[in-house]
Parts: sequence; structure tokens; C-alpha cells
Amino acid sequence: MKILVTGGAGFIGSHTIIELYNAGHKVVVADNLCNSSPVALQRVAEIIHVPEIPFFKADIRDRAALDRVLTEHPCDACIHFAGLKAVGESVTKPWEYYENNISGTLVLLDVLRQHGCKNLIFSSSATVYGDPAVIPITEKCPKGHCTNPYGQTKSMLEEIMMDMHRADPTWNIVLLRYFNPVGAHPSGRIGENPNGIPNNLMPYITQVAVGKRAELGVFGDDYDTPDGTGVRDYIHVVDLARGHVAALAAIERHCGLAIYNLGTGKGYSVLDVVHAFERSTGIHIPYRVLPRRTGDVATSYSDPAKAARELHWTAQHDLDDMCRDAWNWQQQNPEGF
Ligand code: NAD
Ligand code: UD1
Repeated sequence: MKILVTGGAGFIGSHTIIELYNAGHKVVVADNLCNSSPVALQRVAEIIHVPEIPFFKADIRDRAALDRVLTEHPCDACIHFAGLKAVGESVTKPWEYYENNISGTLVLLDVLRQHGCKNLIFSSSATVYGDPAVIPITEKCPKGHCTNPYGQTKSMLEEIMMDMHRADPTWNIVLLRYFNPVGAHPSGRIGENPNGIPNNLMPYITQVAVGKRAELGVFGDDYDTPDGTGVRDYIHVVDLARGHVAALAAIERHCGLAIYNLGTGKGYSVLDVVHAFERSTGIHIPYRVLPRRTGDVATSYSDPAKAARELHWTAQHDLDDMCRDAWNWQQQNPEGF
């Protein structure tokens, strides 16, 4: 298939392009580069041995630009990664988050249907479960209260897509709810490149390891978890990328609207991650316990059985692989791209 990849220069998009090529698909990327570098796509091209990745510097809110992309590159499906994703920033800039993520997606959906491309995979998040009603979290778990505008955009966009599919069942839409993507391509040539102080655990740890930060702050050790620190379902970004290839196969089978958790089904605490990182890299990570972070939940991990059953996809990499590959990327690229 030929796939329009919005946000394809970003962390998950760049890894997904590699897996799409490996599976025999072709891509065209539309990204406004607001949180990414064109170097990521050059490195993807090196990894998969092609001269370049077809790329348009285009904003998904720009109808004319999207129309040009799809006129020059008619596509069979779209994988929609483009969006703003910093939880804390979304609290201080809610308008910017709603406008970029919601308005942008509405424009994209309209242009896609005008071009007869009604096959879509959407990057959603486990954040839509809020404080989850059941653990492990199945797709039947009710959506919860999102404590921040970023999470709200994911939850609202899911509703919008469900309504569009109800009104026009010729759409095939797969909502992928990612758990905690970490790690990097094993080559170390592409990876996560956060701006400023990392919000997320793994990039913070790798920045401590490389000497950019003195110590990790552990946000709370008094949760109702085995060691008191927060428990999450970390998933290697290469496994996550392959989940998109599996979801495309579902689209080819005309799946209608489908929702899948993409996680490993295993929960690890903050201290489990610190110790796994130390074990797999041999580097000591000093840490200090700080108060809880507002909006955090104690425990979130997936039941990945539905994706295994219906998409024939399961995550293959373990936590040590995630730590090793995250460190390999950070070590080779201490300043990012
Ligand atoms: P990222 O920031 O690395 O990639 C997003 C890309 O979208 C960037 O390249 C950015 O430049 C681009 N973009 C943003 N707004 C755009 C616009 N208006 N027009 C065109 N391009 C635009 O983020 P990521 O980690 O690769 O995440 C990809 C998607 O997955 C996002 O939608 C994110 O919300 C979602 N997600 C990410 C995580 C995670 O932990 N990384 C977890 C759950 C869901
Ligand atoms: C966060 C977002 C979530 C988003 C996800 C994407 C919040 C509240 N949630 O999830 O909406 O979809 O990122 O990856 O921001 N931790 C520390 N010290 C740190 C950083 C994190 O102790 O410096 C802890 C957190 O308290 C948590 C765990 O590590 O228990 C994972 O945190 P993080 O990587 O930020 O992911 P989430 O909070 O699960």
C-alpha cells in the first residue's frame, strides 16, 4: 500500500516508516517539523537503503498543502501521528493543543475523504483510560477523566472518528492506544529527541547517564504498588512501529472501526526501570524521591490479548532491550539530531 504518514519525522513516525518499508509498503510524509528534524528522515533513508523518503513540509491544518500531497501522491491509507504531545505544556497552552490536534485532524479527515482515502490509523494513548477502572486494561475498560488538554484531544478525536465511521461505514479506522513507548532503533541512528528537560522517564534516565542531568527525580514512592513508585507498560518503539504494520493488514481486511491497546502487558515500576537500565548498561543512575507529579496514576498496564488475537501482533522486546537501545541512541547522539 501507499501510506500518507503525518508526523513521520517524529519519534514513532520515523521508526514506523522503516517497518512499513520492510513490509513492502511505500510512504509519503507530511510534517511541519515543529517537533522534529529532517535529519531523522535522512537517517531513515540510510537505514532502509533508499536515496530519500518522499517528504512535504506541510501542516495538517493547511488544506491546500494536504490536497497537494494527496494529488501528487494518491494514497491507500493514512497513519496519523502528527500532533502536539507534551502533557504539561498542554495545561498552559490549551488553545494551541486543541487547535493543532483537533482542527488539524478535522482538516486531514476531510481532505482524505475528498481523495477517496478512507483508511486511517490514529495514534491514540492509554491516557484516554484516565485512572483505569480495571488492571490490566482491556479495550472494554471505560474511558476515564483526562486530567489535561493533551489527553482530552486524544479522547475527543476518538469520538469524532467513531461518529464519522457511524455516519459512513466505508471508513476503516484503527484507533491504537499506545502505552509507554521507549527505546530506539537498534542502529542508534534514530530515537527520541525531547526539547529541553525531558518530561518522560526513559529520556530523563538516559540524560542522567550521559551526564546532562545530575540525578533522576522519582515522582512519589508512596503509591499502592510493590515498591511504592508508579507502574507503567513500557513498549519498545520498534515493536510499536510493527503494530502499525499489523493494523494496516486489518484495514486491508476491511475491519471497520477497531480499537487496540499496544503494550506488552507487563507493568514495571520507576525503580524497576532504573535497575534494568543499570543492569543492561553498567551505568549507575543516582536518584532522589520527590513528591508525586500532579495527574499521575499509580498503575497503568495493558491487556494486549486483543491485538495478539486479531492483529497477530505481540511485542517482542523486553525492558533490557528498551534500556540498551535508548542508551545506544543517546550515547551516539548526546545532542539529538
Ligand atoms: P513527536 O512529537 O516526535 O512526533 C509528532 C510529529 O508531528 C512531529 O514530527 C511534529 O513536527 C509533527 N506535527 C505536530 N503538529 C503538526 C501539524 N500541525 N502539522 C504537521 N505536523 C505536525 O511525537 P511521537 O512521540 O512520535 O508521537 C506521535 C503520535 O503518537 C502523537 O500523536 C502522540 O500524541 C502519540 N502518542 C505518543 C506517545 C509517546 O509516548 N511518545 C504516547 C501515546 C500517543
Ligand atoms: C505520560 C503522560 C501521558 C502520555 C505519556 C506518553 C502524564 C501525566 N502522562 O505518561 O499522557 O501519553 O507520557 O509517553 O504526563 N517519572 C519519574 N520521574 C521522571 C519522569 C517520570 O519518576 O522524571 C515517573 C512517573 O511518575 C511515572 C513513570 O515515571 O510513574 C512514567 O512517566 P512518563 O514517562 O512521564 O509516562 P506517563 O506518566 O505514564
